[in-house]
Amino acid sequence: MNVRADFPQLTRFINGKPIVYLDSTATSLKPRSVIDKINEYYTQYTANVFRGIYTTSEEATSEYEKAREKVATFIHATPHEIVFTRSTTESLNLLAYSLHPKEVVASILEHHSNFVPWQQLSYLTVWDPEKPIDSVMTNKTDIFAITAVSNVTGIIMPIKDIVRTVKGINPKCLIVVDAAQAVPHMPVDVADWGADFVAFSSHKMLGPTGVGVLWGRRQLLEEMKPFNYGGEMISEVHVDRTVFKEPPHKFEAGTPHIAGVIGLGAAVDYLTKLGMDNVRKHEEELVSYAIKKFKEVRGLRFVGPDIRSGVFAFTMEKVHPHDIAQILNEDNIFVRAGNHCAMPLHEHLGIVATARASFYVYTTKEDIDALILGLQKIQKLFS
Ligand SMILES: Cc1ncc(COP(=O)(O)O)c(C=O)c1O
Repeated sequence: MNVRADFPQLTRFINGKPIVYLDSTATSLKPRSVIDKINEYYTQYTANVFRGIYTTSEEATSEYEKAREKVATFIHATPHEIVFTRSTTESLNLLAYSLHPKEVVASILEHHSNFVPWQQLSYLTVWDPEKPIDSVMTNKTDIFAITAVSNVTGIIMPIKDIVRTVKGINPKCLIVVDAAQAVPHMPVDVADWGADFVAFSSHKMLGPTGVGVLWGRRQLLEEMKPFNYGGEMISEVHVDRTVFKEPPHKFEAGTPHIAGVIGLGAAVDYLTKLGMDNVRKHEEELVSYAIKKFKEVRGLRFVGPDIRSGVFAFTMEKVHPHDIAQILNEDNIFVRAGNHCAMPLHEHLGIVATARASFYVYTTKEDIDALILGLQKIQKLFS
């Protein structure tokens, strides 16, 4: 995949050295087309959406709604099922507050954003994917919360099978999929998955920060209470009562992140042009290359399976993950260290922290070579 020239940040040198960005799981770099599209809104048609009957407001509204259509097409949904939020985290909080379920099952793989809201607002039972689903579900389970791809182990969960099993046990149980690490990296078809809600973030898929997506089944969105109240989400307000707009607008109170949503539309255009099958294929190649190269680093262990998304959380004998990240940083090799907002999973694995390297469309085998060299250097330093 020859796209590096599209990403301005990759031309940057720090202290005379190029940068090796291996933290795309946390956030992705942005291509020029996304940056230009955001600038276009700010320089050409800055105006609020839905409010004005003048040209620039109509242009902004049209671009904003076009982005909704693009996102819908990208995940095989319809535009009125796409709610724009601030992040995956906000999408999941919206569900937790609006649905207010009594009993929730969430997997041990979850990022805190698909764990803590349920833990705080409901009775939470944790599912270990090594165990059968019916060991944790009852006919009272209201929500089954599951990640499509772990941001630590990179495991790709069989969502379609999980949906079938969960609905087989309790047809009324709603299935919430955290797709923050799936939608950016592989083809996703929400209709094929058969889940009820799917959440993801713009900034992990080449778009700007501050925009998230919640896809929900139309009927469920219609039945749900709004999460935020205020302007834009109403059709009538009287002293004694308010009539809300239809979804998705019912869930988009106040002025949205207009430039961000329009930028996300450009990111979707960019990924669509690359083709999500090609994005996945590129990552598969990088994953097999990395697994082969990791064997050259003595004492390195990564967690999770070989067939996975392009993210590796790993440990090295005698070296703390924070030291790994800090020493690699001296050579402008950027990786993450810590628990990656998945503390229950780290506890389950019996590891306090890991270092994490993650890939995306602009990652090359040379980036992985640089990482391996850096790790070998660290290995010598600590042996
Ligand atoms: C699997 C997963 N879920 C949820 C999130 C939260 O995304 P955001 O911070 O954009 O809300 C992340 C971010 O790293 C993630 O990797």
